[in-house]
Amino acid sequence: MGNVFNSREIKNGHLYFDGCDTTELAKTYGTPLYVMSYTEITRRLEELEQQFTKKYENTRVAYASKAFCTKGMYEILKAKGACIDVVSGGEIYTAKSVNFPPERVEFNGNNKLPKEIEDAVEYGVGRIILDGLQEITLIEAACEKFQKKMKIMIRITPGVAASTHDYIVTGKKDSKFGIPLDEEVFLPIVKQVIDSKWLELTGLHMHIGSQLFENDVYLQALDVLMDWASRIYKDYGVAIEEVNFGGGFGVNYTKEVRKEYSFFLDPLMERLEARSKEIGIPRPAAVIEPGRSIVAEAGMTLYTVGQIKDIKGLRKYVSIDGGMGDNIRVAMYQAEYDGCVCNKAEEPCDDKVSVCGKYCESGDILLTDYKVPHSIEAGDIFATFSTGAYGYAMASNYNNNPIPGVVLVREGSSDWMVKPQTYEQIIQNNVLPNIL
Ligand SMILES: Cc1ncc(COP(=O)(O)O)c(C=O)c1O
Repeated sequence: MGNVFNSREIKNGHLYFDGCDTTELAKTYGTPLYVMSYTEITRRLEELEQQFTKKYENTRVAYASKAFCTKGMYEILKAKGACIDVVSGGEIYTAKSVNFPPERVEFNGNNKLPKEIEDAVEYGVGRIILDGLQEITLIEAACEKFQKKMKIMIRITPGVAASTHDYIVTGKKDSKFGIPLDEEVFLPIVKQVIDSKWLELTGLHMHIGSQLFENDVYLQALDVLMDWASRIYKDYGVAIEEVNFGGGFGVNYTKEVRKEYSFFLDPLMERLEARSKEIGIPRPAAVIEPGRSIVAEAGMTLYTVGQIKDIKGLRKYVSIDGGMGDNIRVAMYQAEYDGCVCNKAEEPCDDKVSVCGKYCESGDILLTDYKVPHSIEAGDIFATFSTGAYGYAMASNYNNNPIPGVVLVREGSSDWMVKPQTYEQIIQNNVLPNIL
């Protein structure tokens, strides 16, 4: 199981996470259960401070809420002085519910709805990341309605292809995200923002993909972005004030492959500095949008083992009480996870099994050919690791199974962060149509 995580340890044969016995957590709170470690989340935020915001002037971190968006997470970020990137009215609503300072909110998305744009402008978000031409009119209308100006970052598709799963590549030209860099498409949009009485062109934004481990692709994309910053300066005399490098910094799932933030950010900052000098503009503020790298390894999911089906000579299926409803990443992009039997954490793993969920899909398999103790049996607690990002965030009610709760653990203490959904809540918006 490696030794990557400070907050994961084995004591008396049990797996502990941030000082809490996971078997006890399962007993106290029930399963399936998402567990998030406060210590791990804040450790990442502190790494970002040391390697980015305190190291370089005029920088900020806008946590990508999509990775894990809850009121408690926003409280942690608020206290740490971080900004947030939101992509929906729901995330804006959640931010408002904890009085997240609006100027520290940045609104992304390839099809922001008119109502979402109005909510964002009324709330007074710090920036809207423009993702298309039609959005301009919507933002201007909202600005006029609330008599507020808005800072605009323009998201470009730099046309570089990151090597990661196709579903999480976003920087290539054939993408639903961002504005393609064809002169006749891009420049009129820039001009329209510059000329608008309600909008202020603040900067350029890129996000090239997720779960990335190389820095050259970021540098290539930054070069493209800065070429256009130069063009904007030459053609319109506007020096962009901010550059957003996006998120995407890769994490450990089954292998220790994670790179320090500085591995990506040092060369990016150096290149930003050099390219700004070349263009003759002050070095713009630098912004990043990490999601996964802050919360993925800070989370694990606990399940209770149920049916075990041993098809002799073929495969042994170990069923757990969750599955694709709480973790769609395996079925969606063949994501791989590590795990362990929490109450048998010291027993040798000598039996190869496939850990499957309880959902009515053959593809609902969380781990394939995974080694667990031979003694695995119904009632054991099984944990999957690194599930803090895009786990709870992507959970569904498939088969009308409730979305599990989230518990926050911190140095031996624990409490609910999100309570588990009830059956009643699943059907609360169901009505019997009058025409039945
Ligand atoms: C615009 C934008 N920023 C940031 C992120 C966060 O990426 P990650 O969680 O890999 O850091 C995403 C992910 O899809 C994104 O689309």
